[in-house]
Amino acid sequence: MAEKHFKYIILGGGVAAGYAAREFSKHGLQPGELALISKEAVAPYERPALSKAYLFPEGTARLPGFHTCVGSGGERLLPEWYTEKGIELVLSTEIVKADLFSKSLTSAAGIIFKFDNLIIATGSTVIRLTDFGVKGADAKNIFYLREIDDADKLVEAIKAKKNGKAVVVGGGYIGLELSAALKINNLDVCMVYPEPWCMPRLFTADIAKFYEGYYTNKGIQIIKGTVAVGFGSNDNGEVKEVQLKDGRVLDADIVVVGVGGRPLTTLFKGQVQEEKGGIKTDAFFKTNVPDVYAVGDVATFPMKLYGDIRRVEHVDHARKSAEQAVKAIKASEEGKSIEEYDYLPYFYSRSFDLSWQFYGDNVGDAVVFGDNDPASSSHKFGSYWIKDGKVVGAFLESGTPEENKAIAKVARVQPVAESLDQLSKEGLGFASKI
Ligand code: FDA
Ligand code: NAD
Repeated sequence: MAEKHFKYIILGGGVAAGYAAREFSKHGLQPGELALISKEAVAPYERPALSKAYLFPEGTARLPGFHTCVGSGGERLLPEWYTEKGIELVLSTEIVKADLFSKSLTSAAGIIFKFDNLIIATGSTVIRLTDFGVKGADAKNIFYLREIDDADKLVEAIKAKKNGKAVVVGGGYIGLELSAALKINNLDVCMVYPEPWCMPRLFTADIAKFYEGYYTNKGIQIIKGTVAVGFGSNDNGEVKEVQLKDGRVLDADIVVVGVGGRPLTTLFKGQVQEEKGGIKTDAFFKTNVPDVYAVGDVATFPMKLYGDIRRVEHVDHARKSAEQAVKAIKASEEGKSIEEYDYLPYFYSRSFDLSWQFYGDNVGDAVVFGDNDPASSSHKFGSYWIKDGKVVGAFLESGTPEENKAIAKVARVQPVAESLDQLSKEGLGFASKI
């Protein structure tokens, strides 16, 4: 059996992996010291593009345009970059076995990769309706979106089912971004989700009201408070209808499902400490196993700002945690120390001509400010969250870069607010004073 040894291995080929590779290279690497192993066939890329410009009929994004690290304004790491830096880019290679104590990973083809230091960056996988035994959920043209291969299949289906009907199951990030992308492609779109409003893990009812109104005005049908319980298909096995729990049946040529993600930690079960569904790390993304780090979606890390531990499934954290882990590895080699990770949660999304940003924590009482009438032309509105008299979270739709910077500062500084009423009246003015 072939065996290879590397001083550093990054396991995963997503966002965190790309940013970790760049950080290693910044610190200086010897050729052959670092390998990046990914089951995907392409070098790391900015995953958020897959649910946005990758699906657009015009101004379409394609690789190599969005390889990491362009998403944060950095240099694009093309496959040649890895070669130039002496980094072994091991693509189309799934690791099926990990032994953290003997420091070895085994690929599906039986190659053994030994490491001195490991960064686990395996990200998340999708939760499937077949996981809950939903009848007919394995029909053709029912899509999930995580990797570029999934996006390619969806693009093919959009072409094949021109002007057809699409049902989107789920009202979270994928649900909202994909409904917009399908509508832009001229499909007749219906969204279905169980909660009383969309994106309930972040949006308040007031925020959601704007997006639901906006989507409805774009011609997207929204069905709330129910779930898909079955799918009917034609003789070719292609999905034709979605059966809802409330008894309704929807016609469908394409179904896109976005009912959440699950961190990919299975390879390491029983070998590493886990918490909150992820691999537990310290403020340097070090796990309880010596020389093993975990970053991005899989890491459950100390959130210094809030004094608790969390897992974050967003790109900004994937980038920053990867950089922090590599800095920590390099510092420990030199007997130095670095600052603890002090993360300010930052989430964003874009669809149609909308674009929002959120910073901080969505806990406590929330108040909306600005114009959240979906029919008006400004689209500029936001929300603050107050806990124990302090503003802890801020959301803004259609903010300018300066305005987004101002709400980020509010969430970081956590200024005292007199009342919800004051915040509602002052709106962005409150943030710009901080
Ligand atoms: P990521 O999923 O990027 O990478 C994991 C990698 O590991 C993959 O290449 C995978 O193939 C590989 N892998 C896993 N197991 C393996 C194994 N056993 N062997 C080999 N390789 C293995 N966030 C945000 O803030 N704004 C946004 O707009 C979006 N948009 C968005 C769109 C879509 C479609 C998705 C799916 C996700 C987003 N996100 C987002 C979330 C964001 O992309 C996500 O948090 C980061 O990609 C996480 O980075 P990681 O590197 O941890 O995982
Ligand atoms: P999500 O957690 O955002 O949303 C899941 C949604 O699924 C819930 O809001 C709920 O409405 C719905 N749901 C749950 N069970 C259901 C059921 N049985 N039937 C119908 N609906 C059901 O997850 P997602 O949208 O699938 O996103 C997957 C991952 O990708 C997440 O990690 C997310 O953070 C990431 N992502 C992020 C962005 C972004 O940050 N802009 C964009 C796309 C994807």
